[in-house]
This record gives sequence, C-alpha cells and structure tokens, in this order.
Amino acid sequence: MPTDPTTRRLHLRVAGVSLVLDTTGGRVPAILHWGADLGPLTGTDLATLLAAVTPAISSNGPDVPLRTGILPQSADGWLGRPGLTGSRDDGSGTAPRLTVTGVRITEQGTERTLPAGEGTDLETGPALVMLDLADELLGLAVRLDVELLPSGLVRVRAEVTNTGETAYTVHQLTPALPVPLDADELLDFGGRWTKERTPQRRAMVTGTHLRENRRGRTGADAAHLLHLGTSGFDFATGEIWAVHTAFSGNHTHHAERLSAGVQVIGGGELLLPGEGRLAPGAAIASPWLYGAHSAAGLDTIARRFHAHLRDRETHGGLPYPGTDRPVTLNVWEAVYFDHDLSVLSELADRAAELGVERFVLDDGWFGSRRDDTSGLGDWTVSEEAWPGGLAPLVERVTGHGMQFGLWFEPEMINEDSDLARAHPEWIMAPGPDRMPLPARHQQVLNLTIPEAWQHVHDAIDALLTEHDIAYIKWDHNRDLVEAATRATGAAAVHEQTLAVYRLWDSLKAAHPGLEIESCSSGGARVDLGILERADRIWVSDCIDPLERATMNRWTSQLVPLELMGSHIASGGSHTTGRLHSLSFRAASAILGHLGIEWDLRRATEEELAELRTWIALYKEQRELLFTGDLVRADRGQDAVWITGVLSPERDRALYTVTAVGTPDIAPVGALRLPGLDPRRRYRVRPLVLGPQPTGYVWPAWAREGADPATDAKGAGYGPPALVDHLDVPGAVLLRTGLAAPVMAPETAFLLEVTALADRP
Ligand code: DGJ
Repeated sequence: MPTDPTTRRLHLRVAGVSLVLDTTGGRVPAILHWGADLGPLTGTDLATLLAAVTPAISSNGPDVPLRTGILPQSADGWLGRPGLTGSRDDGSGTAPRLTVTGVRITEQGTERTLPAGEGTDLETGPALVMLDLADELLGLAVRLDVELLPSGLVRVRAEVTNTGETAYTVHQLTPALPVPLDADELLDFGGRWTKERTPQRRAMVTGTHLRENRRGRTGADAAHLLHLGTSGFDFATGEIWAVHTAFSGNHTHHAERLSAGVQVIGGGELLLPGEGRLAPGAAIASPWLYGAHSAAGLDTIARRFHAHLRDRETHGGLPYPGTDRPVTLNVWEAVYFDHDLSVLSELADRAAELGVERFVLDDGWFGSRRDDTSGLGDWTVSEEAWPGGLAPLVERVTGHGMQFGLWFEPEMINEDSDLARAHPEWIMAPGPDRMPLPARHQQVLNLTIPEAWQHVHDAIDALLTEHDIAYIKWDHNRDLVEAATRATGAAAVHEQTLAVYRLWDSLKAAHPGLEIESCSSGGARVDLGILERADRIWVSDCIDPLERATMNRWTSQLVPLELMGSHIASGGSHTTGRLHSLSFRAASAILGHLGIEWDLRRATEEELAELRTWIALYKEQRELLFTGDLVRADRGQDAVWITGVLSPERDRALYTVTAVGTPDIAPVGALRLPGLDPRRRYRVRPLVLGPQPTGYVWPAWAREGADPATDAKGAGYGPPALVDHLDVPGAVLLRTGLAAPVMAPETAFLLEVTALADRP
C-alpha cells in the first residue's frame, strides 16, 4: 500500500457512473475511468486499474507512459493543449509542473482531509474532491475541485494563486476529461440570431476540434454541449461523453485526439490579453467544466443536466418541484415600442380571461426609449409614454391575480442617453478617444466600475421596491467587442461577466422570490453559469413553430422544459413570415414554459376559444412536464419527430408527434413511444385541440368505430371522429408502436398516455 499522503485512488459512483481519480506519487490528478459504473472495486482492483489503463510508451515520445491529467501538462509527456499556461513578465514560468500536496473530500456536506495512508482505496457516492497542487519553483498553487454530482454529472474547476513575488499572467486554464478512443463522432452546435443551437456533426480525427467564443456572451452560435460518442449515436443509442463550459463570457470547448493514442474533451474561459494577470497573492478561477456520460444515447445526457438543474436551491423561483410555472403573456410582438396604457390594459384583461398568470411589459417603458436608438441605461419610467407611471398597469395586472414582469437590459447603454452623457467613462471602450462599433445603436456599460454597478443595481432595486414586480426579463443585445475599461484600455470581459453574476445574486437576495429570465437577442445567453441563477431562458426571438421545433429540441439537451420560454405567437411569424395554424403553434409551444406573444386584440373568438383549451391543457400537464423525463425520437427520415415526457414512475406520459417536413414515405410506419414500461397497460388518448389538421388520414386505431379489417381508409368527407382512447399493453406501445396517420407538413398532434393499473 502506498503511504505517500498524495497517493490516492478514489472511486466515486452514482446514477450509473463511475469516476476513478488517481494521484499516484503526487502526480497531477488523472481520471482512470469516467464512464459506466464499474461496480464495487477493492484497493487492489484500483491499483490494477491504474496498470490496466496506463498506455504503452509511444515509440517516438518521452521514455515514460503518457499521463492525461485533468490539467494536462507537458511535464507528464502530454503534447496536446495544456491545462494551464502562463508566464511572468520576464518570460519565465511557462511550463508548470504541478504536483499534489494535499487531498480533502466532502461527502454529504462533511469535509475532511484524507490522512496519509487512507484513501488509497476509497470508494464513495457523490462527493467533492478538493486537491491542492503546487509548483513551488514557479510560485504557483492550484486548487483543483473534482465533483461527482447526484445526477451523475462530473464537474471540475481550477483556481490558480500566484505565490511568487512578481506578477504572473495566466493565459489559459482549461481542464479536460479523458474519453475512450471508440468514441469517434462529434456533435456540437452552431446557430445565429433566430436560429439558435443548430446541431452539427463530424467525425473525430487526429488533432483538435476547437470552439472559441469571443462575443463576451454565450452566443447564439455557442457550442452549447460538445458530445463525443460512438458512431451514429442517437437519442437512445450509443455511448457518449459530453462537456459544457458553465460561463457566460468568452469561452472554449474542445475535443482533442493525440497521435499518441488518447483523446480528451474539455473547455474553459477564453481569457483576453491581461485578464489573467495576477499580482502576488492574487488568484483566478476557471468556470466549472461539466461532463456527462451516457451509455444509452443523448436523452440520458439531457436528463442528467435536467436533474442537476432541478437540484438547485430554487428552481424557477421555488424549491423544486415548484412546477406551476405561470402562463405568461409577453407584449413584445404585440406592441413593440408603442406603449399605451389603454392598449396594454386591454391586453391584460384579455390575458386574464384566458387564464394567463403573468404579464410582462417589454422594452420601451423608460427614459427616451421610443425606439432602439436612445434611452438605454436610463432606468426611470418615461413620463412621455407613461404619464401616470407604471402603477396603473401594474395594479390592473395584479388586480387580475396575475404577476407583473418588467424588461431590463442592465449591461447596455445607448450613446444617446442621459447616463452616457453623465458618465461617458462608464462605457466600455479601448481608450478615451475610441469607441467600439455600435451594435443595435448601443454600447456596453462597464459594470466592473463599482460606481456603475451600484448605479444600475440601485435603479433596478428602486423599481422592484416601488412596484409589485415578480419577474425580470433580463436582456443583453450586443456582443462585447473591444470591451475594455475606457480609462486604462484593459480588457474587461472576465470581470464584467462576474460583475453581472454578482448583480443577479444581489437583486435576488434583496427580493426573495424574484424570478429572472436570461434573454440575449433571443437565446444568446444559455449556459450553466447564468443558469445557476436564471429561472427561465428565452430560447429565441424566432417563434415560428417550425424553427422552434429544432431549437427547442436541442436547447433541451441542456435545459429542462420548465426553464425554456416557449410562446404561442400570431399566425404569421414576425421573423420568418410563415403562416401556421394555431394547433401547430400551440402543440410546439406546450412542451416548455408556456407563454403567449400575440396581439390578442386581433385574435378571433374561435382562436381565443382554442387558446383557452391549450392553456387549460398546459395547466393540467405542467406537473408532469416539469418533473418528468424527456424522450425524443425520429420517424420517416427525420420528417416526423416524437417528443415526450414521462413521469419518473412511468405511469403518465405526454407525447407530441410533429411533422417537421414532408416524408418521402407516407405514412411513416409505426410510432413507437419511447420510455414506457413494457410490463404495464396504458390508456392512449389522441389529442387534437381545435380543428383537425388538413390533409390527415388517420389510421383505424384512431378513428371512432373503424374496423381495421374492412375500413382501412375511412368513409366520407371531412375529418373523422377520433376515438376517445385506446387501451394498449406498454410492450406494444414501446416495441410495436401505433400506426402513424398520414400527416401534412408543419402539423402536430398529441398523445396522452396513462397507466391503467398500479405498478406491476
Ligand atoms: C431582444 C429580445 O430577445 C426580445 O424578446 C425583445 O425583448 C427585444 N430584445 C426588446 O428590445
């Protein structure tokens, strides 16, 4: 047994995942196994595991086996991207050689130091392992946290302290996690405004697949999640390892395969020049890098992240499961900047009649903000637009029993604003005489300046104190380019990101129960850094249900449905111009935090009546939707999508079946309903709210009174009456499936599934 206090092999196990951490001989911590559960292992087994996974010496490399540390370093023979790079001003200190000086562990909230001799064969459940590392010669100390969470997610982060006597600049601090070489296909995401999180796949090859974000915000084109899995992995199949960098500023994700026969996935903050400069004694921390493993496809990865977010102290403003996420009316697409008390009051009245529970007043209520060219930064209610202040509207809304929500964009400023005129030095710029290119006519307010931070904080706080505001829609509409403190020219994205987190934390602490939505030109700030605090994210400014089908599907790879703002808009999409039926718009929105973004004064009585039934359905189903497990599947060469949510007990489920395209074959065969318990019997109800979609041919099982032997097509004209329900064994639904209707493109219907008897 090694007695070196720095030699540990720790085996953490939970939720079907094993993580084996090794610090043999005090060497940089490495992961011997991250993947499917290995079952109980003895100390001898763990020592054998080290021998088993240590690679042969490469014929053209160092004379020792390569060690893939969590902070990989060349001192261990690693010739890929290093975990930590930096230097002193004289050029020294460029090749850290970190070794372990101590190990502590926190299990179930109790922290202890592992004394010498103990822990060489420690096996435990979810736990946080805190490793102290140092390179005394270089004057660096590193605290490395490695945690296995109850959801089965792994997360790692590092904090570097300059223990030397001169300044040290950290250039890069990027942990990485090992992935077996059988994983050879990558999936991550691109996107743009109104088309966030579009999937992209490619084969993994030797070299580095690197995603860099320099927007100063997460980005509509963020990598989102970087997956590396066995070829052809899908929602329910394939072994997958994935990472996500939990940061809302500049950041990276990477996958790297070395010719020496190892590969890793990792990520971290992308530090701008000088942002990592540490005075003696100062420290800088990386964001958490999350890792998820699945032995059975993408759905398991998604569910681990959902479980993790549901474990937050408050989830959607309440301790989980606070599932009654209020039906929301947002007035942006109804009135844009045209604020008028009587119009907005009428909208509030109509919303209340429909069963809406939250009313959100969007951009345009403050300062000189009658369009997007001025007033941003002046967080006082406009007397011009609101001669009686906001109180009459707030009272109208709350008088109906609805919550009131208000839009802010606190990190931004129009040059044409009172704030910019009073404090031009608070605008981010590379120097006193240079201004970055404007974007949406705006610049970035420098919240790293304490007075600017306090000013914004106090302005928001005053409004939250004066009015009964339950909810903030927090927007962020431009990238941070040339983002520096104007007086010094020093890059300020790193500090700005942390300042924003502090602002959210402080406002939430001062106003318990306050919910904040993360919006950023639509969905350009969706990451686990902001989601440590956010109660909802706005997925995209595109509410076209066809586009949203893709965006919602992939946003939910990270974000559970209850946190995804999902609205029913007017029939003609404001961003794409497409026209869609209400039933398609609503069926696409219902798997999310439901809202309406539509000038209800223009809705017909029939539309309002249908909308009422959708809202009622959402309220009936939201507990299931927001505590359940997500499943996804495709049919007919991807033209028909099944998305479902199953209760953890598998006694309830709701599926949407969506034709996102026109399949080459019709019908698309049987719809197998993933996730059900094959040992139970279920009652299936096809749900079509409102008029039946045009162009459908329903199969016999779905038509009232149809005999599949003699009446396969149905008789007569017009839509047939649909059965109320069909009772089917779970095994049939799961393994055989129900014949699909012939579906017209851009239509959807729902299947409600309920178990007929108790658990077998
Ligand atoms: C961008 C957001 O995504 C929209 O929903 C809206 O709030 C506008 N900004 C307002 O300027």
